[in-house]
Amino acid sequence: MEKVVSGIRPTGNLHLGNYFGAVRSFVQMQDEYDCMFFIADWHSLTTHPKPENIQQSARTILAEYLACGIDPQRAPIYVQSDVKETLELYLFLNMNAYLGELERVTTFKEKARKQPDNVNAGLLTYPTLMAADILQHRAAKVPVGKDQEQNMEMARKCARRFNHIYGVDFFPEPQNFYFSEKALKVPGLDGSGKMGKSEGNCIYLRDDDKTITKKVMKAVTDSGPQEPNSQRPEVIENLFTFLRIASSEDTYQYFDEKWNDCTLRYGDLKKQIAADLCAIVAPIRQRIEDYSADTALLDRIAREGADRARESATATLREVRRIVGFR
Ligand code: ADP
Ligand code: TRP
Repeated sequence: MEKVVSGIRPTGNLHLGNYFGAVRSFVQMQDEYDCMFFIADWHSLTTHPKPENIQQSARTILAEYLACGIDPQRAPIYVQSDVKETLELYLFLNMNAYLGELERVTTFKEKARKQPDNVNAGLLTYPTLMAADILQHRAAKVPVGKDQEQNMEMARKCARRFNHIYGVDFFPEPQNFYFSEKALKVPGLDGSGKMGKSEGNCIYLRDDDKTITKKVMKAVTDSGPQEPNSQRPEVIENLFTFLRIASSEDTYQYFDEKWNDCTLRYGDLKKQIAADLCAIVAPIRQRIEDYSADTALLDRIAREGADRARESATATLREVRRIVGFR
């Protein structure tokens, strides 16, 4: 079975962008692939140097992962900082990563612009740590959202370069993986392009029905369809994107027809979206509460996940040391 690895930084609660864009793919992939998922707590230090309570944030995301349906028996979940082998590979990869190419990564440039007083070396080498996360398991596929494409290109470069420099065929080049035919971007409901923590426009998996409904009902719209079969403006298309991901095909068709014959009432559309999102989120929210209450279970799952990740990383590192010349 092909190996799959992916991670998310514990910088806040999971929202519908994370869920539909990434975590739902993780859940679907665990049946068909040899999966491992992790919580990238070291990576979060690149932007949050003084985490409030990093252990608690990791537990929070762990409970949310599990509530979404990741089964730790089939797909171990671990916390990045529990597997120190990653650091050794990070060091080896950094020796063959060049300043120019790291400086050109868009996410580095963006974050450097956002935090000009803290352009730290960790931020610069974010992609080599990410490459180490992936290559330590010699993973073939990595389910991530569209914003990670350049980091993935760096991970492939690290693999290729290692193989080339040492004259081996050791690391496979990891490929981005989208469960549906292309990367999904979950829009914001405030008229902005994407739902995201830093955009402040998220519907969270922890939100209750009332909060979700309120957020959906407040979504930006326009004055309504003017001509039959016209193209939808972006804010309206965003609402239809939610119908596509959260509602049935019939429901989508129903509202699509209403749009096309100019009888669509946005209030009805929003009520439908809110109801369908609540139906998806409510059972997840319940499971988040159940898992969150059982810290002993969460800690055991993380410990067992780390043991399995360490086993896989140790085997890789043994080979890497030998290849580099440490015998
Ligand atoms: P945020 O943008 O809220 O900080 P992260 O950057 O931590 O979220 O993203 C974690 C994962 O969720 C990544 O794989 C990312 O591509 C995916 N993701 C986040 N927001 C969205 C979105 N609006 N649509 C699709 N995928 C998303
Ligand atoms: N950079 C990813 C994000 O911001 C998180 C991440 C860290 C990751 N290491 C990874 C994703 C390895 C996939 C594989 O979402």
